[in-house]
Amino acid sequence: MAKMRVVQVSKAKGPFEIVEREIPQPGPGDVRVKVQACGVCHSDSITKEGLFPNIAYPRIPGHEVAGVVDAIGDGVKGWKLGDRVGVGWYGGHCGYCDSCRRGRFDLCLVDRQVTGISRDGGYAEYMVTPAVTLALIPDEVSPVDAGPLMCAGVTTFNSLRNSGVGPGEVVAVLGIGGLGHLGVQFAAKCGCKTVAIARGADKAELAKKLGAHVYIDSDQQDPAAELQKLGGAKTILATAPGGDAMTTAFGGLGIDGKLMVLGVPDAPIQVNAITAIFSRAGLRGWYSGSSIDSQDTLRFSALTGVRPMTQVFPLDKVNEAYDVMMNGTVRFRAVLKISA
Ligand SMILES: NC(=O)c1ccc[n+]([C@@H]2O[C@H](COP(=O)([O-])OP(=O)(O)OC[C@H]3O[C@@H](n4cnc5c(N)ncnc54)[C@H](OP(=O)(O)O)[C@@H]3O)[C@@H](O)[C@H]2O)c1
Ligand SMILES: [Zn+2]
Repeated sequence: MAKMRVVQVSKAKGPFEIVEREIPQPGPGDVRVKVQACGVCHSDSITKEGLFPNIAYPRIPGHEVAGVVDAIGDGVKGWKLGDRVGVGWYGGHCGYCDSCRRGRFDLCLVDRQVTGISRDGGYAEYMVTPAVTLALIPDEVSPVDAGPLMCAGVTTFNSLRNSGVGPGEVVAVLGIGGLGHLGVQFAAKCGCKTVAIARGADKAELAKKLGAHVYIDSDQQDPAAELQKLGGAKTILATAPGGDAMTTAFGGLGIDGKLMVLGVPDAPIQVNAITAIFSRAGLRGWYSGSSIDSQDTLRFSALTGVRPMTQVFPLDKVNEAYDVMMNGTVRFRAVLKISA
């Protein structure tokens, strides 16, 4: 049996282990992807640290996968060998619950499969995934750039386009990391007045390069007051995983503004009822998207030039890649480059 190299985690809080496994065969409805690149997302800490119950270890993390279709299971239609594909967080669904029957497969109520958490992901030379999870990668987008668009990209693009904001209106992006640096680009390319909010002055120049019209250093300035000077934000993409930071930003919403909760906060978010009532402002959580949302993200990025800023690591440098992401020093997404 042919072997592949993978990075696995054998138990919650366990180390990354580089091991050999048999190359998996795709079952009915599945395809095998030869992985070219996989982004390292903050949510990979769910697998690494065991933050969800019932993760079946050993598990291969990784849900920002870009590669090519390498083998096709029985009954799969619409995909052929060699197609360039991405796989994100959405890893499959039941097909019969109320949510699936509404077409919201990514919000499946019964069997919500998550790539790299409930099934093996892309820190590997090959992976098997349901064909329904695939997004087609346009020619213009390289594997290293496509990977991060499969989670950081779709989460910010899809939440932005579903938040009700229009061109010319104010969008703030709270937290300029993997998600945030793409959120800034998407908002700017959509013609929104784009405000980047981060801790410290060191990200100001890069945020402006990514398209931000205004930079708020939350260590020195009050983000709510600064946003109110601009008339209040219509949308805040809250990517920073800080409950207090989201609570503060909420006060920066304008009329009918929405705080889109993308980051998983470390503390409860407190909603200021006066802002909520007098501005009809609110808070909405947002969950990634389905494979067609990812494909839309890739197409928008191909059309407009949105690309992640990446630091590339080989598979055996997975610890370094994970550490720069967790300690916030990566600019702005670590990507494992696994094959050409
Ligand atoms: N909703 C979804 O579907 C979805 C999808 C993917 C990821 N996520 C979640 O989204 C969050 C972000 O993921 P990521 O991959 O972008 O992480 P990341 O690359 O680590 O970026 C997070 C950024 O937030 C900043 N930050 C942290 N605490 C902050 C605070 N209190 N105030 C301001 N900025 C703060 C950090 O910057 P500094 O430390 O340098 O200030 C860092 O740049 C994570 O919680 C992840 O699990 C959710
Ligand atoms: Zn992710």
